[in-house]
Amino acid sequence: MRRACCSDRIGVLAALVISWFAVAAPPALAASDDGVWITLGADAFETLTAGSPVLFHGHPLEAADRADGVVATRVEAKDLERISARLHDAFERCAGFMAHGSRAEAEAVLARLRAPAEVEGTPPVYAVDHPAEVQAMLGELDANQILGTIHSLSTTFNNRYYNHPSGANAATWIRNLWLAYAAGRPDVTVELFDHPSFAQPSVVMTIPGTTLPDQVVILGGHLDSIASGSSNPDFSAPGADDNASGIATVTEVARAMLALGLEPQRTVKFMGYAAEEVGLRGSQEIASAYATDGVDVFSVLQLDMTAFQGSTEDVSVITDFTSAPLNTFLEEILDTYLPDLSWSTSACGYACSDHGAWTFQGYPAAFTFEARFGQHNHQIHSTGDTVTTFGDTAAHAFKFVRLAAAYVAEAAYDGLNPLFADGFETGSTSAWTLTFEE
Ligand code: BES
Ligand code: ZN
Repeated sequence: MRRACCSDRIGVLAALVISWFAVAAPPALAASDDGVWITLGADAFETLTAGSPVLFHGHPLEAADRADGVVATRVEAKDLERISARLHDAFERCAGFMAHGSRAEAEAVLARLRAPAEVEGTPPVYAVDHPAEVQAMLGELDANQILGTIHSLSTTFNNRYYNHPSGANAATWIRNLWLAYAAGRPDVTVELFDHPSFAQPSVVMTIPGTTLPDQVVILGGHLDSIASGSSNPDFSAPGADDNASGIATVTEVARAMLALGLEPQRTVKFMGYAAEEVGLRGSQEIASAYATDGVDVFSVLQLDMTAFQGSTEDVSVITDFTSAPLNTFLEEILDTYLPDLSWSTSACGYACSDHGAWTFQGYPAAFTFEARFGQHNHQIHSTGDTVTTFGDTAAHAFKFVRLAAAYVAEAAYDGLNPLFADGFETGSTSAWTLTFEE
């Protein structure tokens, strides 16, 4: 059965497309029957062209271009909802495609897929070789913190919608929580990243690197939520799994790093992205600003939905719109430090979360997910996305906190860290506060 979330999503996407047309399209394209450009998985495209095919002004849909299993095509705006329903039934995707304001935007997505390494400089080398730092981080994690943060985010705000006051308030709440963790660390900043066209800011915490400050390690998740009825500012979208769980996971890793007094070699940034649910808008603005400024991003890990165990395996490593070397790094981290956790690979079939925004800019990004795609929590994007769906426990989310903490500890250090040359005593925080010496 089709879920309410999808029709609501299509309303949002259609509205965005219409506003993009209104702002960006040349007058000739503004005619409403000229269609909407979308990108979607080749499997999804085949579904739309088989059986009783979706037509564009009476003609079969055309694959205008393809790259890496993704097709760009043009559909009539009135068919967007029907297409979403077909894809939801066939693939359990909610939306299942990205809508674009123009053919050029759709082509830009394919171009980035063809040439993902657009960023200048030497590609990052990922090595699993910092056991002391990882064990220190793992020893500091507290499972109780995570559930508290999920409860706060999913019950304090009616919704965290990108364009409603409560969505902006939720961002401020996260900023204040992270600021409290950073008290006593004048080198650490916590900032709102404002987005000019909507109310909700993103939140960014920065721990500057000591010896490699220009290389940036990112851990992030989206802070917004969505559900049916989003035109009403008071609509209910608790978003406990999607994605209070991811923000709580990011938050606990940040808390642990600061509690340890960790001074990483690379700069570490924790991010809560605005407006993911309406087209990865917050993360796209951030990633594009980083590309414009030539920021050297070493790695990005996305956490979006970590609380619901829907598969036999604990962790799903998403393989599309992500970096293969970074995925291998995460798999090695799992096997090395977290052998009690099982993992599989899975694919969304489209750029299903903020990792896509980084990938589109040529940066290496990964996405580790709560279940195999399709076996995830189906209450998302509804008033039913509460802690009840995952038994009011953060047991599953805690696995992702451990993984994310190990990832940050490994990625933030390069080569042998003399601080730990003689080993590190877990429980002792003094070593972390020493100034790093080369
Ligand atoms: N958390 C979801 C993505 C997701 C859902 C991944 C189910 C895997 C399984 C995310 O918040 C979301 O809804 N993303 C949108 C992306 C779109 C707006 C570009 C989606 O999936 O429709
Ligand atoms: Zn999400």
